[in-house]
Amino acid sequence: MKILSAEFVLSATQPAHYPPAAFPEIAFAGRSNVGKSSLINMLVKRRGLARTSNTPGRTQEINFFSINNRIYFIDLPGYGYAKVPEKMRKKWGPMIETYLSRRPTLRLVILILDVRRDPSEEDRQLLDWLRFYRLPFLVVLTKVDKVSRNETALRRRRIGEDLGLSAAAQPILFSAKTGEGKDLLWQEIGKASTPV
Ligand code: GTP
Ligand code: MG
Repeated sequence: MKILSAEFVLSATQPAHYPPAAFPEIAFAGRSNVGKSSLINMLVKRRGLARTSNTPGRTQEINFFSINNRIYFIDLPGYGYAKVPEKMRKKWGPMIETYLSRRPTLRLVILILDVRRDPSEEDRQLLDWLRFYRLPFLVVLTKVDKVSRNETALRRRRIGEDLGLSAAAQPILFSAKTGEGKDLLWQEIGKASTPV
C-alpha cells in the first residue's frame, strides 16, 4: 500500500474516548520493548510516528493512528515490564481486553514476539482472549536481524508449536532494522482491511 498519510489521532484508556469506529482497525500487541512502535513506523515509513524508546513501558495508553484516512492502526500498551507501577500494571489487562472485545471494526490483531524469547504468560493470556473472542490474529517474530537464519528458523518452529499455531498460521518473520517481512505483513493487512 502506498502511504499518503499517517497521522496520530488520539490516545485512550476507555471506550468513551475511542474515535468513532469508522475504519477497519489493525491492532499491534506485545510485551514492553518488543518493538511494536518500531514495527508500525517501519510499515508506514514514518520514523517518528509511533514513539519508540529504549525505556520499556513508554506506550501506556491505546494509541490510534490514521493511515491514508482509510485504516486505523492501534498501538496497544506493552505488558510485562516490572518497573511500571503496580497500579498501572493492573489496568492493562482490563484496558486491552475491553478494547479487543468491544471494537466492532477490529479486523486483525498482530501479536509481536521477540524471536529470541519464549512467549510469556501475558502473551498466552492475550492469545487466549483472541481465541475466545474469535478475533483474527497473526503472530510476528521481530528483531530477526539479531539472530542467525538457522536460529530464526528453529525459533519459529518452536514458538509456533508452543503456541499451538496451525500450519497455515506460522509466525511471520520481521525486522524493523532491515525491513524484512514488511511486504508480507502489508499483504495480510490489506486483505483484512476491506472498508467498513
Ligand atoms: P513499549 O512502547 O515500551 O511497549 O515498547 P515497543 O514494543 O513499542 O518497542 P519499541 O518499538 O520502542 O522498541 C524497543 C527497542 O527495540 C528500541 O531500542 C528499538 O530500536 C529496538 N528494536 C525494535 N525493533 C527492532 C528490530 O527489528 N531490530 C532491532 N535490532 N532492534 C529493534
Ligand atoms: Mg511503543
